[in-house]
Amino acid sequence: MDVSQRFGGLQQEIEENVGERIVALRRDIHREPELGFDTEKTAEKVLAALEGLPLDLETGVARNGIVATLGGERDGPTVALRADMDALPIEEETGLPFSSEIEGRMHACGHDGHTSMLVGAAHALSGMRDRLNGTVKFVFQPAEEGGGGGRVMVDEGVADDVSSIFALHLWPGLPLGKVATKAGPIMAAADAFEMEIRGSGGHGAMPHLAADAVVIAAQVVTTLQTVVSREVDPVEPAVLTVGEIGAGTAFNIIPEKARLGGTVRTLNQDLRERMPGRIEALARGVAKGMRGDANLDYTFSYPVTVNDGGAADRVLSVAEDIFGGEAVLELPNPSMGAEDFAYFLEKVPGAFIWLGVGEDISGLHTPRFAFDEEVLPRGSALLAALALEASQHLS
Ligand code: NI
Repeated sequence: MDVSQRFGGLQQEIEENVGERIVALRRDIHREPELGFDTEKTAEKVLAALEGLPLDLETGVARNGIVATLGGERDGPTVALRADMDALPIEEETGLPFSSEIEGRMHACGHDGHTSMLVGAAHALSGMRDRLNGTVKFVFQPAEEGGGGGRVMVDEGVADDVSSIFALHLWPGLPLGKVATKAGPIMAAADAFEMEIRGSGGHGAMPHLAADAVVIAAQVVTTLQTVVSREVDPVEPAVLTVGEIGAGTAFNIIPEKARLGGTVRTLNQDLRERMPGRIEALARGVAKGMRGDANLDYTFSYPVTVNDGGAADRVLSVAEDIFGGEAVLELPNPSMGAEDFAYFLEKVPGAFIWLGVGEDISGLHTPRFAFDEEVLPRGSALLAALALEASQHLS
């Protein structure tokens, strides 16, 4: 069967049948943001929104995650669609009528939208079981923002029987409704470090009797900038950002210790593994030269998010079919941001997809991030079409 026959009108159908429902769900989740693995109420809202659908429901996956399974009318592969459910510790400043009602918490990364789009796809596919070969798993994941909920779900076996997996992320900077992806790496590995700089304290007027941890820390921060600029192949992407620095108790005391915190982003596993050694050697060398020392605590966190080439191609062709060629972009470059969907893609071929929310809107993880809800049925249609398409082609 020709692809356009299968997906023609899908977005409109979703808009008409569940458009209002997924917008209401999104707002409901937005009003009550939950953090990390503690997405209990969000999971309840999802379950309520799935009620009446012919799904097998598994709750309590990775604490408050849900796996909802839909069987098609014929045998075939298992395709998974994943959305993240958690929010961020940010005070909302959008002024929206459905703004966060919880102080200091906000859905500033669009996960409320991702969850609602996946619910929309579950409704659409439940009405199309006659066209579905095999099984679709709808995966609602907690703890994307730092907790590694994706890893926990993979450890609990969520991906074990899955042949192909897809996930969407709303994306500022891309025109509204534009679908973008690429083969290979699309998001970076995100590793973290903390460093304690030790000198010896003293009077602010007698620096020669101390080893100033503030000045050592300043030199270390500056020297660390040479890791990327002087030690990494210039055509190999890498980022080293020191985002935290702290020391001291008073203007006239030379502190004994200073503390740095930072993140390292890479796309290449060899380079990734080489980074902590270089950071430690440089920091200690500088600190020792200044009569101090440095201690590095390095944590490997989310791996590189690597799309399967075939899956990325299918996303682009399915999106072109539903929305037209002008709505599709094959990305030239990955983002150095990170995503714990990477853990699923380590296990199962699939693709991570960006869905544009406009070029002039406030970025992800900012207090004014907001998006046009018109994009929601569009995302649902894309997810549903990908599951249908993958179910025809995989075995
Ligand atoms: Ni996110």
